[in-house]
Amino acid sequence: MAEATPRVATGPDGDVAQPPPVPQSGLTGETLTLRVFKGVPGGEAGYATYEVPDVVGMVVLDAIHQIQQTQDGDLACRWNCKAAKCGSCAAEVNGRPVLMCKTRVDTLPRGAITVQPLKAFPLIKDLVTDVSRNYETNKLIPPFTPAPDDGTPWRIPQMDIDRLFEYRRCIECFLCQDVCHVNRTHELSARFFGPRFFVRVAGLEMHPKDVLDRRELLGDRGGLSLCNITKCCTEVCPEHIHITDNAIIPLKERVADAHWDPVRWVARRLRGAPKAGPA
Ligand code: SF4
Ligand code: SF4
Ligand code: FES
Repeated sequence: MAEATPRVATGPDGDVAQPPPVPQSGLTGETLTLRVFKGVPGGEAGYATYEVPDVVGMVVLDAIHQIQQTQDGDLACRWNCKAAKCGSCAAEVNGRPVLMCKTRVDTLPRGAITVQPLKAFPLIKDLVTDVSRNYETNKLIPPFTPAPDDGTPWRIPQMDIDRLFEYRRCIECFLCQDVCHVNRTHELSARFFGPRFFVRVAGLEMHPKDVLDRRELLGDRGGLSLCNITKCCTEVCPEHIHITDNAIIPLKERVADAHWDPVRWVARRLRGAPKAGPA
């Protein structure tokens, strides 16, 4: 496909902004080749090839910024923090979902680096995808709900705090949602919350001060049973959250308990534990 004439760069979260200046020092003397997906839905699409000078410590997002600055200002990518904390720069590098700002080029195999948008989400332009369905899924999960008569200050064992903290590390990059075959291959996101939201539910269900019961929701609309524990989500998580071991498997056990244990079922009914529904 024809390469576009530079005009304006897309910057943080779709705003129009200039990428950072091209570094003038630290050059390694090597040249990097990048094959970058370009296209819009229903329009011409393909891979454009660019060459950029390699810089010590360079990450893939740096290379994309160099391309925007010097060769193709029309190339769209989403980014914000450049510190692996906002989750905006998620893309697929050599076929693997990663944060571009956390992926050093010197860790990749020699040869052309292929950069493409997240496959499991609708394309907007070039490396930018529409991840808004995640926010719709999020709305289906009832938020943290303490008992109305549970006075403060709360005293929570440090062990519980430590466990909850892992779930709260999520930066909503949606790499796990992208890699999961239930979304990516089978396109079942309409009846599957996905790993990011299993992490969120785990953080709520295991909070000692939360009184809602979201297990029925998980088993129904959440589609927890569609997960077959392949652990692909855990492998790509940039925050090293043990998504399968510490969120999904404990939730599966709780859903199974709720479904099969008659004693607990009767006890819950007698206690009158509220059932969860959309907030
Ligand atoms: S472990 Fe489950 S949620 Fe994670 S990628 Fe595999 S199927 Fe998807
Ligand atoms: S769980 Fe990990 S991979 Fe998934 S959205 Fe959160 S930080 Fe990203
Ligand atoms: S730019 Fe924020 S995570 Fe990469």
